[in-house]
Amino acid sequence: MKYYITTPVYYVNDRPHVGHAYTTVAADVLARWQKQKGREVFFEVGTDEHGAKIVQAAQKAGQTPKDFGDEKAQAFKDTWKILNIDYSGFIRTTDKSHETAVQKALEILYRKGLICQGEYEGLYCVGCEQYKNPDDLVDGKCPDHQKEPEKMKEESYFFKLSEFAQILEEKISSDEFKIEPETRKNEILSFIRSGLKDVSISRKNVVWGIPLPFDKEYTTYVWVDAFLNYLTVLGWNGENQENFKKFWPPDLQLMAKDIARVHSTIWLGILLALDLPLPKRFFVHGFFTINGQKMSKSLGNVIWPEDLVKKFGADASRYLLLSSTPFGQDGDISWEKMTQKYNADLANGLGNLLSRVFNLIENNFGGQIKAAKTDFNIDGFLENFQLFEALRAIKEKTDWANKYIDETKIWELVKTDKEKAAKILGELLGAIAEIGESLAPFMPQTAKKIMESARAEKIRKGEVLFPRIEV
Ligand code: MSP
Repeated sequence: MKYYITTPVYYVNDRPHVGHAYTTVAADVLARWQKQKGREVFFEVGTDEHGAKIVQAAQKAGQTPKDFGDEKAQAFKDTWKILNIDYSGFIRTTDKSHETAVQKALEILYRKGLICQGEYEGLYCVGCEQYKNPDDLVDGKCPDHQKEPEKMKEESYFFKLSEFAQILEEKISSDEFKIEPETRKNEILSFIRSGLKDVSISRKNVVWGIPLPFDKEYTTYVWVDAFLNYLTVLGWNGENQENFKKFWPPDLQLMAKDIARVHSTIWLGILLALDLPLPKRFFVHGFFTINGQKMSKSLGNVIWPEDLVKKFGADASRYLLLSSTPFGQDGDISWEKMTQKYNADLANGLGNLLSRVFNLIENNFGGQIKAAKTDFNIDGFLENFQLFEALRAIKEKTDWANKYIDETKIWELVKTDKEKAAKILGELLGAIAEIGESLAPFMPQTAKKIMESARAEKIRKGEVLFPRIEV
């Protein structure tokens, strides 16, 4: 069985921050878990590199968009490496093969009569790279970028999205195509029911983009370009279509709430227009604030993943991100909260459990105790994308084990009743092995060490996995 999982292609206007890392780490966990279950997985990541937003950022840095994009795309790759993201394909929308395939897709739509000429008159937010309706604005500004959108009036090509409104409504409301959580599904349905208009798919004055194949005076609207990455990363319409044949359609597309609407309308509309099978589902997660504030460079509160890794290590960073908030809800993080959680759950919780049990076994039984089988697993949570609940269950198991040690006063028992102590240590060792196994998709390196230690012929004290960190 195959499993195709995708993340948004992130803009290269800056290096990745903790919000990007959150989606990508979540995808990595789900991809690793699917692999553990024996599925053949393709896990897509990438960067979105065309359009006005990137041009402006490059100008500000005094670089060409291409050089600027190269540098930032590399920063994304470096960050995924230090976070141990085991992706299958990294697509850049400036890859030649992507550009060619985008033009092929547009040609198909054009020949089908699904693209027509017109004039776009309205508002445009460069930060979002999106056309805006007046009711999207708060006090005349884009709420996400705190900026007044530009007034735009230009000749444009339109994709006849309105023709797909009814079929989209049917597929989403019947759950043939799933949008989770339910609240997001309902928001999107009511948006679609309020009437889908045809969408502009070209820009006349943006040179940094893929030229329309049927009119070179225009470039492709950056979202249309970007969506197609989910196809082109698999080689769709390229020379080698093996991955496309094997993995299409996506089993899961992850994103945050900011881009669920465009995905549910334009992206799905394009797929219907291309006669391609729709993805099985979107899972839409929430947004992080930092100490109650929107994360922004101007506020200086951005959390960079490389700083997280420096402080906590890759595995603990992954743990802290995913255990901070139920997946699907908005959340708030801060250095302080993360440090406290690190100390509580990892240094004092799991780390302490490991060192207590391993020490007792090495010191009192010459390292010779066999792990008992228990029946702990978190598959039920992972099947439902409940990453937070899965980690909470692991934490509860750890707490149970630490409490079991306290209540049985096992450090005394090893002197007074060795047989009973051996039995309890066997149960504890079994719990540790299962905790290690469950943690494997979340904390791959740590989990490997835990499982190796717990299943060794001779149990040893081993290294301290999570040294305490001062708050
Ligand atoms: N380039 C488009 C996506 C095109 S996909 C065909 C884009 N890029 S982005 O760089 O702005 O990334 C948006 C995504 O980054 C969100 O959907 C989410 O996955 C992640 N996040 C960005 N900020 C975030 C938070 N503050 N909190 C959680 N996730 C965040 O949109």
